[in-house]
Amino acid sequence: MKIQSTDTSLEQWAGDYLGIGFFEDQVEQSEHFKTLNQATHGLLEEILAETEFKGKSGESTSFRSPGAARKIVVVGLGKAEKLTLESLRQAAASIARTAQKQKSKTLGILLPSWKNDEALSTGAIAEGVTLSQHQDNRFKSEPDANGAAKHLEQVDLLGLGNQSAAIAKAEQVSEGVILARELVNAPANVVTPITLAQTAAELAQAPGFTLEVLEQEQCEALGMGAFLCVGQASDIPPKFIHLTYKPTGTAQRKLAIVGKGLTFDSGGLNLKPTGSGIETMKMDMAGSAATLGAAKAVGLLQPDVEVHFIVAATENMISGRAIHPGDVVTASNGKTIEINNTDAEGRLTLADALVFAEKLGVDAIVDLATLTGACIVALGNDIAGVWSPEDELANAILSASELAGEKMWRMPLEEKYFEGMKSMIADMKNTGPRPGGSITAALFLKQFVKETPWAHLDVAGPVWIEKESGYHNPGATGYGVRSLVNWIVG
Ligand code: BES
Ligand code: MN
Ligand code: ZN
Repeated sequence: MKIQSTDTSLEQWAGDYLGIGFFEDQVEQSEHFKTLNQATHGLLEEILAETEFKGKSGESTSFRSPGAARKIVVVGLGKAEKLTLESLRQAAASIARTAQKQKSKTLGILLPSWKNDEALSTGAIAEGVTLSQHQDNRFKSEPDANGAAKHLEQVDLLGLGNQSAAIAKAEQVSEGVILARELVNAPANVVTPITLAQTAAELAQAPGFTLEVLEQEQCEALGMGAFLCVGQASDIPPKFIHLTYKPTGTAQRKLAIVGKGLTFDSGGLNLKPTGSGIETMKMDMAGSAATLGAAKAVGLLQPDVEVHFIVAATENMISGRAIHPGDVVTASNGKTIEINNTDAEGRLTLADALVFAEKLGVDAIVDLATLTGACIVALGNDIAGVWSPEDELANAILSASELAGEKMWRMPLEEKYFEGMKSMIADMKNTGPRPGGSITAALFLKQFVKETPWAHLDVAGPVWIEKESGYHNPGATGYGVRSLVNWIVG
């Protein structure tokens, strides 16, 4: 599928399908409405009256047209003053889905710009199209069955000027999102710590990258007792992945991104019971998928920023070698942890990864983790929680996420709650009481960062969806990649 911008006017554009957006209660006043109504000999007006189309967000009507385009789909954009980049993404996705379903090959899209920023608007539209068309059929014996065949060949973006750079950027970022989706969708017998390290090795082929994969013995030498205990019952060796990107010029900033990389989380001896979603726990590496997805985009975008991508990859399994609940381990900063619940394993892997990241002398560290069910209880499936002691970093992450249309909400690092993590025998326990479970998890992580500005993102909710929504198809969403790229590239 090729996406391109074009100067062709609305009445001259000829192709299979034309998609156009209208603002709520401003349909008839729109110039494009008048043009298109004329071109369709009044059919547009008739159809919109018949279907009572008002331009509300989510509304859509499609019909055969007597004009240059054979079919037209009209989508509602909601109130003009409420337009966001995200509404453009969603509108573009809705148009592309309609055209694809009706087996169209060439699609024209005419959508307005957000805040007259034609480059950002084009980027959002191109993302909406690309991401809505991505379907992961790798594990079907007949990948193209049931209407999954790709029909769209060419997508022309009308009315936003020449935007080839914005389109190229959107496509590069989308490649990162798609990598993240595919890593998360792949089951735990396909994506393992070993294959995650192989994926990092493939990413390291791009200009500017170097890769270091620490094996178990090297992690032992660094004293990573928290990370290593999580994987000790697995038959697959743990891999500590450190992928570095350095620009050719001088780096403006030095950043670290740490992703939780549990390729499967059984819960360990605190085994996840039936009904708790154990069968979905291949997705417990979605933080690392976002991290590697961002690395993919960085490799393509080549920004002037040094970025360290870190994943302590392992599986949380059971065997005779499993952690006993009650075991005490020592992390690489010397702190001791009583493991009162083997299912709170993500924070153990992140503890050593954060210590490692801080030693690199970076300006800021951001971690992403499918860390707690409690975060889903607090914020639902669409919104990630953000914890940070630094307002500046928290705000930078929040604005990056706003532009990306990836919802986040800042949560409190309520120090008092750390009392619930006190251990009789060790420096701390890995699990506190049930109330505020996502906050105590964040407070636990905080013990492993001394002075570097740090933000923690609990992404347990938004990395996965059951039903098609906007530009996401059921399964992994690739959540986090676009916010990270915005944060890195600025
Ligand atoms: N990977 C889970 C968190 C999770 C739950 C992610 C549901 C996505 C969907 C994490 O390792 C975990 O098991 N957390 C426990 C912590 C508890 C034992 C303190 C949880 O949330 O129940
Ligand atoms: Mn767990
Ligand atoms: Zn987990």
